[in-house]
Amino acid sequence: MSDAEIPVRLVAIRRAAEGTHLYEFAALDGGNLPPFEPGAHIDVCLPNGLTRQYSLCNSVHETDRYVVGVKLDRNSRGGSRYMHESLRVGATLTVSAPRNHFALVHDAPAYAFIAGGVGITPIACMISRLNSLGRPWTLHYAVRTRAEAAFLDQLQGPGLHLHVDTEHNGEVLDVNLAVASAPRDAHLYCCGPTPMLDAFEQACADRPTELVHLERFSSDVAPAVEGGYTVELTRSNRTVEIAPGQTILDAVRACGVNVRASCQQGVCGACETRVVSGLPDHRDTLLSPEERAANDVMMICCSGSLTKVLALDL
Ligand code: FES
Repeated sequence: MSDAEIPVRLVAIRRAAEGTHLYEFAALDGGNLPPFEPGAHIDVCLPNGLTRQYSLCNSVHETDRYVVGVKLDRNSRGGSRYMHESLRVGATLTVSAPRNHFALVHDAPAYAFIAGGVGITPIACMISRLNSLGRPWTLHYAVRTRAEAAFLDQLQGPGLHLHVDTEHNGEVLDVNLAVASAPRDAHLYCCGPTPMLDAFEQACADRPTELVHLERFSSDVAPAVEGGYTVELTRSNRTVEIAPGQTILDAVRACGVNVRASCQQGVCGACETRVVSGLPDHRDTLLSPEERAANDVMMICCSGSLTKVLALDL
């Protein structure tokens, strides 16, 4: 079961940059869609059976549409390729309500953004909000070629630093330098390819974690499938043995309990579940170090248990 339950129609496809299209969805009944805040993403349930997460990039004041930016991935596993090559205006599909694990902090003393490629989509939405509030920001936006840069019109301003790899002999953005140039009390946001996110995390290692925000859309962290523990489902009043090779999500679904899930990689938050007792073995990329240490919630698609018994609010 996915929580992609809002029927929508694709009403427009526009070119944002070379290789990146904007897809605009409207509610089938023509009404308003659930509101969202900058940094939010939705699941898009494609007619080919795939579900993908995409950040919303339109203004939060546009209550009648969701707009997502999708770059054609040369190594596409079927999501971006289907969107680019097969999805046509007029198609009906379902999307989830927006989720936000990359929220824009209000009233930060300073904002510093680092974006790579299509990672600009949530950040464009954040900058549009800051512009409407008259708040200054700095953005280091890295693209491979100038033609691949999207949203340049709305990003223009003294804070924009565009880095084009091909205009620097193929050198990628120096994330360390970009982070070092931000004030110590700035909230830092990064969205982009995995090497950029890894470099960002390293560069921010000496900054307070509450000032550091990043969003991943894939994970190379191995899921917890060691098994050998028991999960108690306190609301369903059931007990499930987790066998080797199984995630908690697999085992819970196998015994007939409906659980929401989408990415199954610990990056989207759809399967977030409250922990009643026991210690989770966190393998997601969403929870902050503080949230992990609190052990109040876990992502059951990828995380396991450090204790023999784990009780969950399911
Ligand atoms: Fe996406 Fe678990 S299904 S985090």
